[in-house]
Amino acid sequence: MKIAVLPGDGIGPEIVAQAVKVLDVLKSDGAKIEMETAAIGGAGYDAAGDPLPEATLKLAREADAVLLGAVGGPQYDTLDRPLRPERGLLRIRKELNLFANLRPALLYPELASASSLKPEVVSGLDLMIVRELTGDVYFGQPRGIEIRNGERVGFNTMLYSESEVRRVAHVAFGIAMKRGKKLCSVEKANVLECSELWKEVMIEVSKDYPEVELSHMYVDNAAMQLIRAPKQFDTMVTGNIFGDILSDAASMLSGSIGMLPSASLDENNKGMYEPIHGSAPDISGKNLANPLATILSVAMMYRYTFADLATADRIEGAVKKVIAQGLRTGDIWTEGTQKVSCSEMGDAVVKAL
Ligand code: IPM
Ligand code: MG
Repeated sequence: MKIAVLPGDGIGPEIVAQAVKVLDVLKSDGAKIEMETAAIGGAGYDAAGDPLPEATLKLAREADAVLLGAVGGPQYDTLDRPLRPERGLLRIRKELNLFANLRPALLYPELASASSLKPEVVSGLDLMIVRELTGDVYFGQPRGIEIRNGERVGFNTMLYSESEVRRVAHVAFGIAMKRGKKLCSVEKANVLECSELWKEVMIEVSKDYPEVELSHMYVDNAAMQLIRAPKQFDTMVTGNIFGDILSDAASMLSGSIGMLPSASLDENNKGMYEPIHGSAPDISGKNLANPLATILSVAMMYRYTFADLATADRIEGAVKKVIAQGLRTGDIWTEGTQKVSCSEMGDAVVKAL
């Protein structure tokens, strides 16, 4: 298996280095993996004048899976839009057709006190958000900023074709089948035609999955319910922009955005794996970041692309162990636990493996 390793910007290189340590252990245990590193985001711009250099895209295409750190940084915010780091990320998602983004929110019991919500509201939380990743207002045409009637207007197009909705629906129903068999589709069908179609297609696809209980929720209510009573949800499916927002909210239920991995899959389960957090420029280069979301992304890689559930369980087990041992990076530290650096956390996971 070939893994394209794309550390990116900010804390990206630090956290990816810890995940690579984990992969090195698996390799020394006999796993047939090969890793190759390339630049993306601001690092891609610095190296090749492009946030998704041609060589990086080629490597990613040839690889079986991609491991990504994070992209972005204040030094790139003034670049022309197509040169900005985020564009590199959006382009690689689109080019590799990674339309199904799986974002789990899972609370480790020991971290219940790190959540900003009451422990009884979040304890036992195990939620999966399936976010459509290659359509919606993120990619819809036309888009732009232009002069109309003597003033500037900015515009984007929210657009979904039924085939785009259908394919992500099948992924979401498939995942719900393996979980609690409850799927909540989130949209804004009371206002948006795009959402009306989304809802219709969800209902059509649900006929193929009679065992799954499908419900529908408007996105504003879903945002509220996620904070009020998140355990009512098992699997959620939603479009690109709503999923972007809801998954950030869901991440805080689990105490820290630093704990949550993600998978972005194409039709053949080729995938890109990345923590859901960003490049955190404020703590970059200080060895302070939490590498667990990236390490857990490797576990997802084993689960979804390599279909090696035993190794996925082994990695997740090692993470549970270091949490149980009381090791914490700053973002999840509470009184009575032991504060460790990014690399110390990586070493601890390696030891637990
Ligand atoms: C995410 C991020 C990206 C997105 C940005 C960095 C383009 O917020 O992966 O959630 O909006 O999809
Ligand atoms: Mg986001």
